[in-house]
Amino acid sequence: MCGIVGYVGPNDTVEALLNGLRRLEYRGYDSAGIAVVDETGGISVRKRSGKLARLEELLAENPVSATGTGIGHTRWATHGGPTDVNAHPHLGDDGKLALIHNGIVENFAELRAELEADGVELVSETDTEVVAKLVGREVAETGDLETAFRNVVKRLHGTFTLLAMHRDEPGKVVSARHHSPLVVGLGDGENFLGSDVAAFVSATRRAVAVDEDNIAVITPEEVRITDFDGNPVEYSEFEVEWDADAADKGGWSSFMAKEINEQPEAVENTVRGRVVDGLVDIPELSALGDDRLREIDRIIIIACGTASYAGQVGSYAIEQWARIPVEVQLSHEFRYRDPVLSDRTMVISVSQSGETMDTLMAVKYAIERGVTTVSVCNTQSATIPRESDAAVYTHAGPEVAVASTKAFTAQITALYLIGLHLGRVRGTLSAEASAEAVQQFAELPEKMREAVATHEQIAQLAHWMADTRSVLFLGRHVGYPIALEGALKLKEIAYIHAEGFAAGELKHGPIALIDHGQPVFVLVPSPRTAPLMHSKVVSNIQEIRARGARVIAIVEVGDTAVLPYADDVIRLPLADALFEPLLEVVPLQWFALELSTAKGLDVDQPRNLAKSVTVE
Ligand code: F6R
Repeated sequence: MCGIVGYVGPNDTVEALLNGLRRLEYRGYDSAGIAVVDETGGISVRKRSGKLARLEELLAENPVSATGTGIGHTRWATHGGPTDVNAHPHLGDDGKLALIHNGIVENFAELRAELEADGVELVSETDTEVVAKLVGREVAETGDLETAFRNVVKRLHGTFTLLAMHRDEPGKVVSARHHSPLVVGLGDGENFLGSDVAAFVSATRRAVAVDEDNIAVITPEEVRITDFDGNPVEYSEFEVEWDADAADKGGWSSFMAKEINEQPEAVENTVRGRVVDGLVDIPELSALGDDRLREIDRIIIIACGTASYAGQVGSYAIEQWARIPVEVQLSHEFRYRDPVLSDRTMVISVSQSGETMDTLMAVKYAIERGVTTVSVCNTQSATIPRESDAAVYTHAGPEVAVASTKAFTAQITALYLIGLHLGRVRGTLSAEASAEAVQQFAELPEKMREAVATHEQIAQLAHWMADTRSVLFLGRHVGYPIALEGALKLKEIAYIHAEGFAAGELKHGPIALIDHGQPVFVLVPSPRTAPLMHSKVVSNIQEIRARGARVIAIVEVGDTAVLPYADDVIRLPLADALFEPLLEVVPLQWFALELSTAKGLDVDQPRNLAKSVTVE
């Protein structure tokens, strides 16, 4: 939930930390802070509640000159409200040690009581300060930061990535991970730690993903990784696929606007290299063995939020092409229902970050029960793909805005490719259907550009609707999860009450919500490829219009059937029914962005939310 960065090296330490925090701010932005070893050889801390800009103001008012060792943190509050005092770093050992934390220490109350009984004074309400004081006490006893850190880490329950430094051991930052992400950046005479590679990608693209329950110690010259008992572990380096520019706003008004625009390329890059001689072939799935894929008799897609809606869209395609029953479950519900699983079940997790704790725990549960696990993920070397039997990466590039856009369309793409691969291997996909899908993918980027070009029309619509208090979304078949996604986007960034419904469900209750002027977006299926669904949805439009709804119809170009009943019509290029969601969602993303902007809100950093939800 929080972003963490560590730096050791000869360059401007404060700038290195701020640089990392700027790129990690999406992970949490209710307070930020840094600690450095300063010119006097002591630890200096600057921290403040609010966004990173407030910390930067503080540093301008009260600068600090650092000497090459520092840690930085951007917070999304769990224990203790977002105040200056609760902001990280926290101090131990009479201010000689500084420590930051991402996660939750579940046994913090008992550890806190132990410290208090020992006469230790705690100034904040956080679990993190408890850890800082414990490590500080151990350093005072053992005289060695690494030993002290190891001793404490072994006592903690819950989830954590921890970074600590001590003034008596300058040029060193120690770190540990347990269920929260941690990567090392390998520089030239300098090294970094971060919650993800964004923390250091402007300085180096060489990285090491630290494994579960490992400790990484960095100095300018070396990186050492051990288990919690201090036994050395082998590690391998990987090259970050994208560069710093990809994680910058690049002239756009917001990251979300930039990322909506990047969708044609995100989809194209996700397909790239996965079509061979006109057939979909995903090497990561082939590596599982075709026999294993042929034996699968049930697929469960697990995900949260937007990723779960991508899963819902994908479930229609996989079922259609691979003829395997597919169900979608929210990750946080999955293990509590005691699901019926067998060695012929495949669990496909969908996660942009690859670190969502609910999804990770569901994947681990599935692994323990011997099912085949496949991860659809956008983040190289994240925990979920590394834990899974196979990883099918979406190549959407870094997604920084909290509201997911390009990752969503890339996730649908990856799930479709999985469906096509399984259909081919299992012999359930006809040559025509396969060729048609491949052709649809080839045409998709251009069509998505046209969908992106609805921006102007949507901006005007949003302008007129800036005072709207509630918006409904209706869809059928693959349009239903898109209705859910359209509603989620609006809630998240425009703070407007919104709900998505399956159009057929309307008359079973929700139609009572329709009042004069109630805006309703309707996703209208193609009359060419889905004539039956089309006629049903047109009837739904008539029903709500008769009750006073303001209808905004999203149709394929040339569909005139809705014109008499729609107040606004948004036209999208022709596509096969299964490919329509990849176009339909784009105007809904714009709509949320424009309403958020019209209300003067922060599009990229909505209140109460963080990009990566690493607590359960
Ligand atoms: C909504 C959004 C969230 C995420 C969800 C899962 O715009 O971004 O609903 O989709 O928190 O996150 P990942 O995909 O990282 O597992």
